[in-house]
Amino acid sequence: MAKLIDGKYISTQIKDEVKEKVKLLKEQGKEICLAVIQVGEDPASSVYVRNKKRACEYVGIESLAYELPEQTTEEELLALVEDLNKNEKVNGILVQLPLPEQIDEDKIIRAISPDKDVDGFHPESVGRLCIGEAGFLPCTPAGIIELLKRSNVEIDGKECVIVGRSNIVGKPMSLLLLRENGTVTVAHSHTKNLKEITRRADILVVAIGKPRFITVDYVKEGAVVIDVGIHRDENNHLCGDVDFEQVKEKASAITPVPGGVGPMTISMLMSNCAAAADK
Ligand code: GUN
Repeated sequence: MAKLIDGKYISTQIKDEVKEKVKLLKEQGKEICLAVIQVGEDPASSVYVRNKKRACEYVGIESLAYELPEQTTEEELLALVEDLNKNEKVNGILVQLPLPEQIDEDKIIRAISPDKDVDGFHPESVGRLCIGEAGFLPCTPAGIIELLKRSNVEIDGKECVIVGRSNIVGKPMSLLLLRENGTVTVAHSHTKNLKEITRRADILVVAIGKPRFITVDYVKEGAVVIDVGIHRDENNHLCGDVDFEQVKEKASAITPVPGGVGPMTISMLMSNCAAAADK
């Protein structure tokens, strides 16, 4: 039976560390403020945004909430981002994705000042990560690195396989594991013989968006399995991309869903906000 990697516990640890840092910054006269923008009323986005605001309260960061209607135009959203870029009180800007289809996400991401890019999605942040310069790291993959390190999982020299190649998780995850000296393979929807590849992994990170897709036969005995997915199954229970009940018997360590990767994303956002204010 695998050891559970407790994302809830580790994320609270990180939030408490950020809370201390925020306190010190405030003592130096630095107030911290995150602007959170949501366009439309996607229920999943509303939950994420609510949790981000709560985390801000917990660590002592002020949050400014902008809840814009579904019909908001690209120009209107760009104008708001520009205002927030100029607003010296605001240290971080977060535009919750996905955006309605009339708005070009890439255009919005590029419009956010790289100095306030606490999501780490701006091409400048991505480029910095790629060449190993300091910059904002995308929260979910950065949270996974923290989970591994704080669970004493060695990355150096290990076979790391990532399933999924999104800009938010898969691609930056590959760069972060590479930076930790992992040997990294990225598998995706066109990969042939996926099982053969995932079975090589000492560390398997799954971000494909398919409920319980990774069954026990995709996993090597003793692997560390990180599940980024979150879904509701036919019985309305939360589950991940990994078949947890099966895979926990074969892995040496595994993240549960919920309570694994999810809470880490928000803690790393808080950490990025504190870093933005400290610049
Ligand atoms: N939608 C899903 N994940 C994220 C995230 O990390 N940041 C933003 N802004 N939107 C998301």
